[in-house]
Amino acid sequence: MDLEERKKRILILEDNPGIQNLYREILGRHSYETAVFDDINSAIDSLKKEKFDLIILDLQLPGQDGLNFFEQLKTLNIDAPPVVVCTGLASVENAVEAMKKGASDFITKPFTMDTLLSSVERNIRIDEISKKITEIEMIRSILELNKIIISITEIEELCTSIIDLVYNIVRPDVALLYIKDNDTGRFFLRRTKGTASEFNPSINLSFDHNSNNDIFNRISENLFEVKLFGKKDIVGILRFYSREKIYDDRDLHFLSVFGTLIGIALENASLIQQLQESYISAIRSLVNSLEAKDVYTKNHSEQVAYYAVAIGKALGMDSASLESLRNAAYLHDIGKLGIKDEIILKKSFLTEEEREIIKKHPLITREILKPLRIKKEEMEACLYHHERYNGDGYPEGLAGEKIPLMARILAVADSLSAMISERPYRKKMEIKDAIKELRTNAGKQFDEKIVNVLIDVIENLKEAE
Ligand SMILES: [Fe+2]
Repeated sequence: MDLEERKKRILILEDNPGIQNLYREILGRHSYETAVFDDINSAIDSLKKEKFDLIILDLQLPGQDGLNFFEQLKTLNIDAPPVVVCTGLASVENAVEAMKKGASDFITKPFTMDTLLSSVERNIRIDEISKKITEIEMIRSILELNKIIISITEIEELCTSIIDLVYNIVRPDVALLYIKDNDTGRFFLRRTKGTASEFNPSINLSFDHNSNNDIFNRISENLFEVKLFGKKDIVGILRFYSREKIYDDRDLHFLSVFGTLIGIALENASLIQQLQESYISAIRSLVNSLEAKDVYTKNHSEQVAYYAVAIGKALGMDSASLESLRNAAYLHDIGKLGIKDEIILKKSFLTEEEREIIKKHPLITREILKPLRIKKEEMEACLYHHERYNGDGYPEGLAGEKIPLMARILAVADSLSAMISERPYRKKMEIKDAIKELRTNAGKQFDEKIVNVLIDVIENLKEAE
């Protein structure tokens, strides 16, 4: 049956048999279905089982306070229909009180047929429109949220965005995000939002998902959880704690759709991370084999990473940036894999033509790293580590601060490492001579600030020895 054609159902809570009949008569004649009750408990029982489009509530029920009905309605956890209260002229104050508790409208006895019908029609229509608006908004917000979620492939960033988004939408007192650890199969708390002090952040959630595959699980009156399903299995759990808020069908419907999207995004991010880790470790072993071929460059990238990270620390970089700097230091010369051994391993000076070939290695590095989807700053550090501060470098001839900071750091660390290592065509330099050389080239080949930082770092290391 078309929704528009379905008869609207009205629950009537009224004790007076004469008025009960009046309702049945007027509303029945206008194609409404009615269910009449004379006490709150049986009306509430009926609301648990059946769906109604409107409630008409007489506030003067013998032996009962009609206002109590609102308290009981709240505890039902249903998408409650609008309530029109009906009251005698003498008790309009009660009607005002009822409006404060959530009634949508009120009519006073004695009422005319027109008054009753117009209130009923108006309130049903308003409720339908507001539901439609909320549904459209819900679909729109889910699509918007999905766009955000699928654009994030870095798992830590994804966790932060998920907890921020669901906290802002669901508005609990506390939101907790648990992620499954694939090694142990247990769920560990990864992010919280709100006052989470009463929840142990180191809790291990052992979860028997075979016994319960419902997306929702109400753990206690105030705590419920949403399981985040990946393609096959549960990958995470969101828990919400609220002292007062009661979640209705729409909230739960929203979370069931959004929870599925989150689960898939989490699973994808974790797969990408695993792929990336294995790709990075494969590339690192390639770097090792590349360096192992040549006794003169053995452990070069290790040494570059050591000095680059020391400079980064002295500049106050955060741990994520230091990690990027370390990765870039390991990967920066990987492009040399694409250049013939006879040039790379040549023991005498290079010809002009050979130098031009060598200059291609940052571009080859970029091609090798492209499928890795490494961070932009890591890629740029590798690509521009042979740029010079005065613009005389390669591959693009960038100058000054246009050269990304990490690339300027790598340039200094790379040169220092090359100078203090033995080369086929020269002996290794003493560190003091290498520093002199860096100083001479500060402001020309190198960023002077970074040279000064490196010199401080070396001085401090010497003092520490
Ligand atoms: Fe290089």
